Order: sequence, then C-alpha cells, then structure tokens
Amino acid sequence: MSRSRVSPGVAYLTRGLLSVIFPTASSVIIVGRLACLQGFSVSPWLLSAMTLGAVPLGFAAYVFVDEISQRRKATRLGARLVPRIQGKWPGNLDKLVNVILTLEVEYLGQPNSGPTLNYRCLWEDYIVTTEPQHVKTILVTDFHNYVKGAKFREAADSILGTGVFNSDGNLRRAFRLHRTMTRPFFTHDRISHFEIFDRHANRAIALAKDRFRMDLAIDFQDLISRFTLDSASEFLFGDCIDSLSVELPFPDNTLQSTNSKPRPGDNAAAFTNAFSQAQHAISRRVIIGAAWPMTEILADSTAQHMKVVDKFLDPILEAALRRHSTAAKSDADETAEDQTFLDHLVKLTSDFKIVKDETLNILLAGRDTTASTLTSAIYLLAMHPEILSRLREEIISKVGPTRMPTYGDIKEMKYIQAVLNETMRLFPAV
Ligand SMILES: *[C@@H]1O[C@H](CO)[C@@H](O)[C@H](O)[C@H]1NC(C)=O
Repeated sequence: MSRSRVSPGVAYLTRGLLSVIFPTASSVIIVGRLACLQGFSVSPWLLSAMTLGAVPLGFAAYVFVDEISQRRKATRLGARLVPRIQGKWPGNLDKLVNVILTLEVEYLGQPNSGPTLNYRCLWEDYIVTTEPQHVKTILVTDFHNYVKGAKFREAADSILGTGVFNSDGNLRRAFRLHRTMTRPFFTHDRISHFEIFDRHANRAIALAKDRFRMDLAIDFQDLISRFTLDSASEFLFGDCIDSLSVELPFPDNTLQSTNSKPRPGDNAAAFTNAFSQAQHAISRRVIIGAAWPMTEILADSTAQHMKVVDKFLDPILEAALRRHSTAAKSDADETAEDQTFLDHLVKLTSDFKIVKDETLNILLAGRDTTASTLTSAIYLLAMHPEILSRLREEIISKVGPTRMPTYGDIKEMKYIQAVLNETMRLFPAV
C-alpha cells in the first residue's frame, strides 16, 4: 500500500504558510496599498520584510492573549493553573530536548516537583500527572471527556491508522464499530486455549535456561517481548513472527557480545525492530507536540519502519482476504469457525486498510501490555524473594512442575492473580 509522499514537515509548513503567512501578507499589502493611495511610496522589499516580521509578532500576540484567557477562565472556575516548569530557553526548548534524549533510558512522568506539572513545550500545554485521583478521573469516571484528540491521531496515523487504539470513545459510532468487529472473536473458549502460549513460553524459557547454564544474564524484557510478539501473531493471524528464532543479545561485558549483531536479512529481527522504532516515533511526536512535523521535513520518520512492517504483514493479510473470497464462493465460509482473528476480520470487511489497521492495533495491544506487565512482575519478584517462593509453592501444588495450566487452574490460583494485580497497580501498562 502506498503511503503519502509529502513529508509531514512539508505538509505542516504548507498548512502554516496558508494559515499564517497569507492573512499576514494580505493585511500588510492592504496597509501598503493604503499608504500608496496616500502618496507614500512603499517598496516591495519593505512589504516582504514586514510580512516576515509580522509572523513571530502575530504568534507572540496569540500566546499572550491565550495566556490571559486561561487565567480568566481559571479565576471564573475558582481553579488554579497547573504549575509550569521553567526552562532556560524560550519555549522550554532545553527541557524538550532533554525529555527526548532521556526518553529511552528513563520513565516518563516522574515530575520532580509536585504530582502535576505543565511542561509547556513550544508554548503548547503538555501536562503530566501522577496524582491517582486525576488518573482515575481521566481513565474511569470522566473518560469520555478526555479524548485522544486530533493531535494524537495525527502523530499516530502513519502507524495505527484508523484502528481501535487511535479512535476516541466519544466518536461513538467509530468506537462501537471497532468493538463489534473485534470483540466477538475473543470468546471465553478462545482465550482459554493456552496451547499457543504454552508452546512459545516453553521455547522462551528454554532459551533463558541455555544462557543460565553459560552463567550469563539475560535481558528479560527483550525475551518476553519476543514471546508475546510470537504468540500474539500466531493467535491473531496464524503466522508466527518467530522472533524467538533470533539469537538473544549477550550482556555487553562478555566476549560473545561483540559478534552477536543481528544478521542482515533476518525478517523476525527486522520486524521486531521496525515495530518498536515506529512506536517510539509516535511517543517522540506526542512529546514534541503540534510542531513535531518540523522535525520531519525530509521524510516521515515512521516510513522506513512501516515499510518493513508492511513487507511482513501485507502478504499475510492479502492471503487471508484471498482465502475468504474463494471460500465465500463455495459457501463454506459462513459456517466454518474462524481459526484466527484475521479470518474473523475478513468476513466483516474486504477493505484492506481497515483489516490492516485493526490487526496492527490489536497486535500492539496484545503485545506490549503483556510484555510490560510480565517484565514488571519479574522485576518485583526478584526484589521480593519471599513472595516468589510463596508463588512458586502455589504453582507447584496446583499445576506441578511440568504440566500446562488449564483455565480452571488459573481461576483457582488466587496468589498468582494477586501478584499480577499488584504488579499492574504499581506499573500499569495502559
Ligand atoms: C484481581 O483483580 C481483578 C480485577 O480487578 C479482580 O476481579 C480479582 O478479584 C483480583 N484478584 C485478587 C486475588 O485480588
């Protein structure tokens, strides 16, 4: 599928030009004309200089007026404005650069002065809160009032498209459509079939054990992300991405680390990497705010990554659509039980883009949440060995050392549920 050719930066500048320069230029020209009528001579150079000069002035005026109206509104509501961080550079540009640089190595949202802060990068409010009551209001009690909004949709569009992750609850029709499309697939019966997960889990554990025998540490988050990617892809579209087939990274301080670079042409490694990089680009865009396209003048920063994702995904989706249209002719399709999420989806629509967006969204939802929660759980268990041994006791007594757990087992294992609940309370994935 072709993606738009114009880079986000060029599109943004064009829009900006139309909405800022034109009105400014026309007013400057009108003033110039009037001056001419009065007998003054005005050179075109002066007019151009005035136009260019008027743009930042106009923006400053806009920021100023907006500021006053916010203060008025706050006073009227008896509210207090969220405290702003004070950077050294105009528009808090120094803070913005800092946030982007530390994004990869630190947690976002650990304000160092108070639970709620306005980063206000490039004169655009960017409010971060860790106050539980606020989070509850946003995610639960007043959810419909906190839409993702046009800004997030624009930043994520090149990856999530029109899928369920990128739609707002208050766009009711769209949201219901997503739910009615995706939900019926996730029946009790289907989610209680653990075979796929068990098989990939065993494989992941075997890889970890290999390394432990060599007395080497593993990157658990990397390992478990591959487990969730492989099991989610097999569960959703019947084709496993097989990222567990790529050699695990070695710790930096070992001999092996120097010669364990991923081999070129390795599809699984390429897909995994591209998918993560594309997601990373979305967070970077959201953090920069409305002006993010200015950092992507030459090209869409997600384009090369999405090309890799497309190369893997498109043939699978096309095959599913083809299978469905052949089966539909023989009438066998309607009654057959859907094997995968994809089989289910192609019965509802033959629109390639919808199928693709929906699949990518669910893949993202199923993968990162699980990987993140399991990583946090292992981290916490490593810090609390007494909890780990109690958990192990429950598992050994209910399931034993080798058997695959059943849905019934899981329902009865209250301790593992409590451990996961507590993990999700401390490190919520969504
Ligand atoms: C874990 O959380 C779920 C959902 O809130 C709840 O239904 C369940 O009872 C909790 N389990 C335990 C053992 O706390």
